[in-house]
Amino acid sequence: MPVRVAVIPAAGLGTRFLPATKVVPKELLPVFDTPSLQHTVDEAIGAGIEHIILISNRAKPAIEMFAEKASGGARITVVYQDSPRGLGHAVECARELVGDAPFAVLLPDELMGDSSHLKDLINEYDATGKATIGLKRVPRNEVSAYGCITPQGVPDATGRVGIRDVVEKPNAVDAPSDLVIIGRYVFGRDLFGFLATLKPAAGGELQLSDAIGNMARTGKVNGVLISCTRHDTGTPMGMLTASIDAALKRRDVGPQLRGWLETRLKGQ
Ligand code: G1P
Repeated sequence: MPVRVAVIPAAGLGTRFLPATKVVPKELLPVFDTPSLQHTVDEAIGAGIEHIILISNRAKPAIEMFAEKASGGARITVVYQDSPRGLGHAVECARELVGDAPFAVLLPDELMGDSSHLKDLINEYDATGKATIGLKRVPRNEVSAYGCITPQGVPDATGRVGIRDVVEKPNAVDAPSDLVIIGRYVFGRDLFGFLATLKPAAGGELQLSDAIGNMARTGKVNGVLISCTRHDTGTPMGMLTASIDAALKRRDVGPQLRGWLETRLKGQ
């Protein structure tokens, strides 16, 4: 069955972006002139997704308005996760709508330059029938911000590697590798079985990484290393660099911004 459904969790309250998120949901803050969530929607559509399930929170009504007006052509359905019970629980909220279909999960805090990485993950899922997770190599002192995997050997020349286990946000010294999860996933419906048996982690949250770890121990998870550019828009600095990058790529404003930056930096 082709991957045509994507789940985008967007229920968080954006505390790292206060005061901006007092009124505007983090996912609707602009990356240059486009809400960051529109970039995620475009990435999904570019990889062949036709139905997007947005997991939101009733405290963020603007997300529903976005869903009604978003451009691109995919159908968008909003589902609510009213209590902050973790990423695993957020994905579980989409269970009924996803049904038996395979599906992608895109975390909107991660902004990819294009749809190529998601397409890679979908192709790998189609070829193997195994859940497929997007990965990136990071410096050891950064692993504690991510889900970190135990690889099965080393990635091949195309960046593919089996995943034996996953640990969410380990200390650098305990981390099993420097390969981390970058917020792009493709799953079959069996993920929901693994989510249903999860025990809440610290803080009462259900971690998606714990479900993937349990699945990986049955030999059913692969990873693919990312090759496109990526920004972490979960922090104000990441959002700023993503905006600059997006504007620099544009023909209408790119040259003007480049000129301004050069003059500005020379003046320092
Ligand atoms: C989430 C996931 C983590 C993943 C990260 C990617 O963490 O739980 O496994 O590595 O996204 O951005 P968060 O950044 O939401 O705390």
